[in-house]
Amino acid sequence: MYQLSRKLDLGKKLFLIVLLIAFIFLMTTNTVSASTIDDHPNLFIAQLESSSDLGREFYVENCGSCHIPIPAEVLPTDAWQKILEQPRDHYGENLPKMVNITVGLIWNYLRSYSRPSLEGETTPEFVTNSRYFKALHPLVDLPKPSSHQSCKLCHPAAATLDYRSLTPEWDD
Ligand code: HEC
Ligand code: HEC
Repeated sequence: MYQLSRKLDLGKKLFLIVLLIAFIFLMTTNTVSASTIDDHPNLFIAQLESSSDLGREFYVENCGSCHIPIPAEVLPTDAWQKILEQPRDHYGENLPKMVNITVGLIWNYLRSYSRPSLEGETTPEFVTNSRYFKALHPLVDLPKPSSHQSCKLCHPAAATLDYRSLTPEWDD
């Protein structure tokens, strides 16, 4: 068991190294136009477009340890950007340090599955104030206020970032 998990760890590390080499290669050959976030030093690998599956895995691992992993769709992209840029001021917590490549992969997942706020709209910090969260539940009588703690009332597999599965009372 111990051996196996060590092997898996090694596999993951090797994969990251290959990814890093690929990224350096891309950086030196590629002229993809950079959006503002790509200029942020912590988010330097944001251009890796094809890695959002890996990003999802890293997201669950790093952002689903204290609370359930909150799905990208329920907050606007700019809210996620703020969260990733302020790890020392995370709702009163100091997040454990993450290496740049991890932050980049997580960002890739979050921005691929979320949408920007409308112009002039205040960026919500909590799901309960998010228009996108409400839009995903048009006919659902949600608890007020809603929080990450209420998701599992109806989404029993939320811990694995599966928000398709619902508790039986929602089966039509
Ligand atoms: C060290 C523990 C910890 C880790 C790791 C962590 N969070 Fe949090 N997070 C919190 C706490 C504490 C709150 C405040 C809500 C609460 O009291 O439960 C919170 C709240 C949130 C909220 C608002 C939830 C709501 O109910 O509206 C979001 C979104 C969020 N975190 C995203 C993230 C993301 C993204 C990551 C990974 C980068 C992450 N969190 C990692 C502790 C953590
Ligand atoms: C009272 C029950 C209930 C609660 C609480 C609830 N949801 Fe839902 N959620 C639903 C139902 C029902 C659907 C399906 C809605 C539809 O198809 O019209 C849904 C759909 C979703 C979807 C879209 C799933 C997909 O891909 O099809 C997401 C994402 C989601 N919920 C996230 C959340 C999050 C995050 C929370 C907690 C902050 C939450 N929900 C709390 C009942 C709930």
